[in-house]
Amino acid sequence: MKLSRVITLSLFIAAAAVTSVAGQAKPGCSGACGHLDIPYPFGSREGCYRDENFLISCDTSSAKPIANYSNSNIQVLHVSLDGQLRLSGWVGWDCYVPSARWNFISFKLRRFAISNTKNKFTVIGCDTRAFVYDFWGRRFSTGCTSFCRDVADLVNGSCSGIGCCQTSFPTGNLGYNISIFSYRNHSQVLDFNPCSYAFVVEDGAFNFSSLDLLDLRGKRDFPMIIDWAIWGENCSEAVKNRSSYACMDNSFCVDSQNVRGYLCRCNEGFRGNPYLSGSDGCRDIDACSNSTLNLCSQTCHNLYGTYNCSCLPGYIGNGFKNGTGCLLVDKSNNVPITEVALGVSVFLLVLGIVISSLCWVGRKRRLVNIRRKFFEKNGGLMLQEQLSEQHGYSEMAKLFTEEELKEATDNFHESKILGRGGQGTVYKGILPDKRVVAIKKSRIAEQSQIKDFINEVLVLSQINHRNVVKLLGCCLETEVPLLVYEFVANNTLLHHIDPSTKTSCLPWETRLRIATETAGAISYLHSAASIPIIHRDIKSTNILLDHNYTAKVSDFGASRLVPLDQTEITTLVQGTLGYLDPEYIQTGQLTGKSDVYSFGVVLMELLTGKKVIEMNRPEEDRNLAVHFVSSMKKDRLLEILDSGVLDEKNVGQLKKVAVLASRCIRVSGQDRPTMKEVSIELEGLIAIEKHPWDGKYLNSEETEYLLAPIYGIEGSTSNSTGFESIAPKMESGR
Ligand SMILES: *[C@@H]1O[C@H](CO)[C@@H](O)[C@H](O)[C@H]1NC(C)=O
Repeated sequence: MKLSRVITLSLFIAAAAVTSVAGQAKPGCSGACGHLDIPYPFGSREGCYRDENFLISCDTSSAKPIANYSNSNIQVLHVSLDGQLRLSGWVGWDCYVPSARWNFISFKLRRFAISNTKNKFTVIGCDTRAFVYDFWGRRFSTGCTSFCRDVADLVNGSCSGIGCCQTSFPTGNLGYNISIFSYRNHSQVLDFNPCSYAFVVEDGAFNFSSLDLLDLRGKRDFPMIIDWAIWGENCSEAVKNRSSYACMDNSFCVDSQNVRGYLCRCNEGFRGNPYLSGSDGCRDIDACSNSTLNLCSQTCHNLYGTYNCSCLPGYIGNGFKNGTGCLLVDKSNNVPITEVALGVSVFLLVLGIVISSLCWVGRKRRLVNIRRKFFEKNGGLMLQEQLSEQHGYSEMAKLFTEEELKEATDNFHESKILGRGGQGTVYKGILPDKRVVAIKKSRIAEQSQIKDFINEVLVLSQINHRNVVKLLGCCLETEVPLLVYEFVANNTLLHHIDPSTKTSCLPWETRLRIATETAGAISYLHSAASIPIIHRDIKSTNILLDHNYTAKVSDFGASRLVPLDQTEITTLVQGTLGYLDPEYIQTGQLTGKSDVYSFGVVLMELLTGKKVIEMNRPEEDRNLAVHFVSSMKKDRLLEILDSGVLDEKNVGQLKKVAVLASRCIRVSGQDRPTMKEVSIELEGLIAIEKHPWDGKYLNSEETEYLLAPIYGIEGSTSNSTGFESIAPKMESGR
């Protein structure tokens, strides 16, 4: 009864929302700019908006007023109190007629985020590869490649890689940059496709036509959706500070899924602008006065936020149209009305108890069923089967329950998030046995990936390499599988070498050791593990460091297992811009040499401390790999090395590593060394470093230099005692 009332009311609200005026401005403020409604918290002049993030300026200089976002030249097309803004976007292009010309799109919001669910990154062209990455060029990058040979191959309305391709991007982007490239300068398609285009556009708003290949500039609108929120705090933080809390009377707070902030919604049975109070805010819906709804048989009573029905004297029933309605009491029947009423109430009471207990049992059973279903969907049965075939499996992969992991992470609380990426979100958790773990909520979209996922869990849980992050187990009862890894305490390698985040300079010896350990781990994955594994996303953010700065290779979300009888597999090109093997991009053929390429780029980062993609460098040097190789060719290597690691002693070693790095990124995979060779070479370099007292060094001045800081002896010459006592000291220092 109650339930059906709620449903009816919800329908009513839904119907009302469609017909209502879009929203309300603050009292005394203009709520529109031309045809655009501007509801509070947005406003077009001071005193009318909540804070400057909500300023929509209205340019009335022309006949048709134009609303612009925050004094910029970005036009606002629609404002929704549900948390979205529709802005008019732009097209990035790269043209080869009459001569190569391009424009570069860079877009940055201060507080709001580009909607990850409602936009698509779209690329148009027949000799084209384009990427979108976040404003600072480090948290994410994604993109796609679009080819075609002939106009006849194109399909209008289809963006699947022939002349047009699309991808989506992750949550929390406050801005983006777009880069467009061509393989052959459009030379083979110039007559019908002289330009490449790339843009972010509302999903569904762009319909590809083969005519777009000729020219797209200035032809159409490219709307883009922005997620807005009351910025800065989530609901639980915001309610504590009543003076700044944005949700007014009869409303509630909802955390934004994309922005660090919250939104307000009117309570059930209320309607209006939840950010305003009083008559402009959330008001009670007078359900009784709406004749189209016709909720009650006889008498309707409007209550605050809801309504009630009753029957006239001489009638009996609950009065609700969708309930029993009102029935005329049969006078010939001698039972007095009160007794009928009593009988009906007792009956209803008993019915209520029976129904609610049935519901409770049903819900419980449903929950168990849902978990079971997810478990099966996520390949749990397959995994269980595989595990039981293997001896001593309990050591390898533990199947965690959803409850255990919820408890470990405070119900996946926001504050436990360690990081977000294309593969999923990582939370920090503490298991009942006090072990600290990292829990990854993976993003598996397709059923077909499940088998790979299971294989990965099996293989990774068997890998026991001190430089690979250990997989402890997984949980399959949730909608998306959860993976549980050992927790690595000391952040990513990038964090320690990036000038913008590093707190002190990582010494060269440590860098070389990290490189060697990483190379050893990848080489092990390629050759020593029972099934070869290609990591596919080697980068400095996927190399974690523990408290001793020991490297731990992580994030196997993109990794692929290579069946033993194959040396290469064809996959969707996936990886991170700046580390991606160009040969792999072109052919789609994945081999171990793609990891070698990415590792070469990591070596370059270790040597130079520079960003992999840096928009502030001249165009030809934006990509670190290109910059590095061209500097080496010009014999200017020393100029780009990290000044913190370069000194007279190690310059020879730095040069050797630089040569190795440049060999790793050779254009053709065949010309690159294998990971095993790289690993051996690096170990060789460390071995030489470890034994400086072997041979001629002993009697040179360098020995004194080594002795002096340890013993505080200045100017003393080395003698046999000094040598005897320094040897074990150095041994333990390693
Ligand atoms: C796509 O549609 C346009 C007209 O909108 C038409 O001129 C063109 O030939 C169509 N292309 C294909 C490949 O069907």
